[in-house]
Amino acid sequence: MAKSSESRSSQKTGDSRLAIAIMAAGKGTRLKSRHPKVLHEVGGKPLLAHVIAAATQVVSPSDIYVIIGHEAEQVRDAVAGTRVQFVLQQPQRGTGHALMCAAPSLSGYDHVIVLSGDAPLITADTIRSLRDFHLQKKAAMTILSAKLENPTGYGRLIRKSKNSEVRAIVEEKSCTPAQRKLREINSGFYAFAVQPLIENLKKLKTDNPHAEYYLTDMAVVLRNAKQRVVATATNNASEILGSNTRAELVELDRKMRRVKCAKLMSEGVTIFYPETCVIDSGVEAGPDTTIEPFVQLLGNTRIGADCRIRSYSVIKDSHIGHCVQIRPGCILDDARVASNAQLGPYSHLRPGSDIGEGAHVGNFVETKKARIGKGSKANHLSYLGDAEIGDGVNIGAGTITCNYDGVHKHTTTIENGVFVGSDTTLVAPVKLARGSYVGAGSCITNDVPPESLAIGRSKQIVKEGWVKQKRSRTAE
Ligand code: UD1
Ligand code: CA
Repeated sequence: MAKSSESRSSQKTGDSRLAIAIMAAGKGTRLKSRHPKVLHEVGGKPLLAHVIAAATQVVSPSDIYVIIGHEAEQVRDAVAGTRVQFVLQQPQRGTGHALMCAAPSLSGYDHVIVLSGDAPLITADTIRSLRDFHLQKKAAMTILSAKLENPTGYGRLIRKSKNSEVRAIVEEKSCTPAQRKLREINSGFYAFAVQPLIENLKKLKTDNPHAEYYLTDMAVVLRNAKQRVVATATNNASEILGSNTRAELVELDRKMRRVKCAKLMSEGVTIFYPETCVIDSGVEAGPDTTIEPFVQLLGNTRIGADCRIRSYSVIKDSHIGHCVQIRPGCILDDARVASNAQLGPYSHLRPGSDIGEGAHVGNFVETKKARIGKGSKANHLSYLGDAEIGDGVNIGAGTITCNYDGVHKHTTTIENGVFVGSDTTLVAPVKLARGSYVGAGSCITNDVPPESLAIGRSKQIVKEGWVKQKRSRTAE
């Protein structure tokens, strides 16, 4: 029974069971960061999340083993939602040691693909071709290599002669000047046959400048054990790029953003000066939508067709309908905006804002947990929080919902067709019923019945001739 459920849960490739191990235990010293390297973000997601996403397209999460160590809890929490397995490497004594720690979890598999948690551009297609090449060659170790213009920082692949058998991988620090000139590098992605890997891992030594167990040394160890070690060069060298430094992180981010913008443009979206825009991979936008320079579209933002997103707007996790105009400088977070609405310039829509069809939210208007109905307008200088606002409502300039009494939040309800005069404070809980009017400058503390006028301000006093009298008094 136990056996059949195990084989069901592990990925079958022909007759062999395949696992993926992702090395993510390192500190990332070269980033000079307090945060673990694999949680640094590119394309709006942690490095490790990208690698897991690619791996889960090849095997099921239960066959993915993420090796964690430095700030292990933090790393585990960040990707726990993916339902992968975790292996603890404590302390971190190198990439070879990472695999020693994973070995007990891998013993039930025939082959394992090893990925680096800091190389986020890897794709499922490349993982699959590495797997297929490895199985076809019946190798004990298959190295994915790449030919780079600038191989600095990577381990070099040493072959007996061009395109022949692999001799060794030599880390840059240990390279001879001649080896340093080689442009075929070790990507840090490998496929291993599990049995020879586990049998020979213990032969790794720490006789290198970092005094670590290098997984790369398995090339020599396995060759000496008369096992087959091969390498296959990827056609897509940019996929293997790692991120050891801040400069490399930013470059990877730029690459991802460029790819995303190109994709959106191929789907009919115009992006002016795409190199200035920051668009996360999960963002969708419909055809004929135009995105101006310096726009950020983040998280799960979805934008319909025919919209215009003007410069300096930052939109996160928001859903926007069709033909929406977002003028410069708007900030949206977890907001809904229906078709034909207009926002900005400088509107701030905070979580729970729900702007109706054709509504206008204008200059320096902040909304939070506020539903604004069809065709309603709040064009200038307002705070609308915890508000239920109906259709065809006019909110005058400077209107404030006083939603907080110092302890609790309360709701302001404004029904269809209400007109709120400028500079009104609405002290919640309070309700302005259908079709009512509020005089400008009012402080409204009681409900207003339908179709009635409420004025909540002190009566105006006019003292005729007062100025003249005052002047003559001062002159005496
Ligand atoms: C490694 C390779 C190098 C290759 C490069 C490709 C070694 C010795 N060198 O170098 O040949 O060209 O990747 O990017 O493997 N990690 C652990 N536990 C550890 C140490 C590291 O899990 O004890 C993880 C790191 O978190 C990282 C990955 O392994 O995700 C690679 O480690 P890193 O230190 O970045 O290796 P490189 O110096 O880039
Ligand atoms: Ca690296």
